[in-house]
Amino acid sequence: MTSDPSSAQPRKAARRLRGPSLRALLADIVESSEDAIFGRSLDGAVSSWNRAAERIFGYSAEEIIGRSSHVLLPPDRPEEIRRLMERIRRGARVEHFETVRLRKDGERLALSMSVSPIRNARGRIVGASTIARDITRERALEARLLEAGEEERQRLGRDLHDGLGQQLGGMELLCRTLRRSLSKRSLPEARTARLLVSQIQAATRQTRALARGLTPVMDRPNGLMLALEDFATTTRILFRINCTFHCEEPVLIADRGAAIHLFRIAQEAVSNAIRHGRARRVDLSLRRKVKHLTLEIRDRGRGLAAPAPNPTGLGLRIMKYRAAMLGGTLHLAGISPRGAVVTCNVPLARLNAVVPRL
Ligand SMILES: Nc1ncnc2c1ncn2[C@@H]1O[C@H](COP(=O)(O)OP(=O)(O)O)[C@@H](O)[C@H]1O
Ligand SMILES: [Mg+2]
Repeated sequence: MTSDPSSAQPRKAARRLRGPSLRALLADIVESSEDAIFGRSLDGAVSSWNRAAERIFGYSAEEIIGRSSHVLLPPDRPEEIRRLMERIRRGARVEHFETVRLRKDGERLALSMSVSPIRNARGRIVGASTIARDITRERALEARLLEAGEEERQRLGRDLHDGLGQQLGGMELLCRTLRRSLSKRSLPEARTARLLVSQIQAATRQTRALARGLTPVMDRPNGLMLALEDFATTTRILFRINCTFHCEEPVLIADRGAAIHLFRIAQEAVSNAIRHGRARRVDLSLRRKVKHLTLEIRDRGRGLAAPAPNPTGLGLRIMKYRAAMLGGTLHLAGISPRGAVVTCNVPLARLNAVVPRL
């Protein structure tokens, strides 16, 4: 990195400043920051609060200083501040993690946060300072883009099914009639008409499979299980590979949006296994654990290229994003002796998972 001559001047000036003047300069920088910057003591009480924090969280400095920072914590993340403070006590910094906090008016904020220990003059850790960037609008926009993509897929799927699908159905009927009349007259063209019928049937099967992939039916809690089963079957037919789906215990998901996210993750992982791994065998599985659900896509392809898979790939990022939207995680790993596995873990609580009566 080359040094920027324009920044050298203020840095020199800052070095010349000492004691109270330096503190005043730093306080000005904190006050004029676009990001919320606040401090808290080890017991969690807020000790400083800049202007951006007032704007982002809706609490004035007078209102919140001295109060517990737990007021910012959404009820579905009760442990987060305690865990953060444990790390701070050990002297660790926590950088750029994404999380959710509450505004004074109850709105949820998406934030990118960095938290570091504050030490006193003797080097003892006495609290934590937090820098929080408001990324609510970016996250909402990303979610909206995903939704728009989903709506587009659903529309394409319906058009394929109702438009092309119906047209092929009509053509098949006509060709059958033609074949019958040709064979009645014992004309050799009847054979061509028969071939035509079977070609149209194959095209109909492909159209239906594509339409189902675009518009999976998720209107019942067992929708994801059925859609993945169906997806494995169509993958076998369309790509002529061995593709299976295993689900030992029923996994019922009430939240349709969540089921669609999981289905899209499976689709992308299978597509990567076929395209990049040239896999001839892919196994999908869905397992219910005590508190979470695991979706796994395991292939016996070429495995991951060394040193690391294409970091610009959008597919993997979107898969991870979908998992994060469900409060879960997603990893891609190579397996020995060959192949790759995508593992997605999602807390059951976020899926409105229906507990099956066995
Ligand atoms: N199952 C797999 N087998 C081999 N390589 C894979 C597999 N899944 C992903 N990869 C690697 O990870 C990269 C990133 O995947 P992805 O984000 O979907 O991007 P894209 O498919 O657009 O390249 C791929 O380019 C490939 O190198
Ligand atoms: Mg991909």
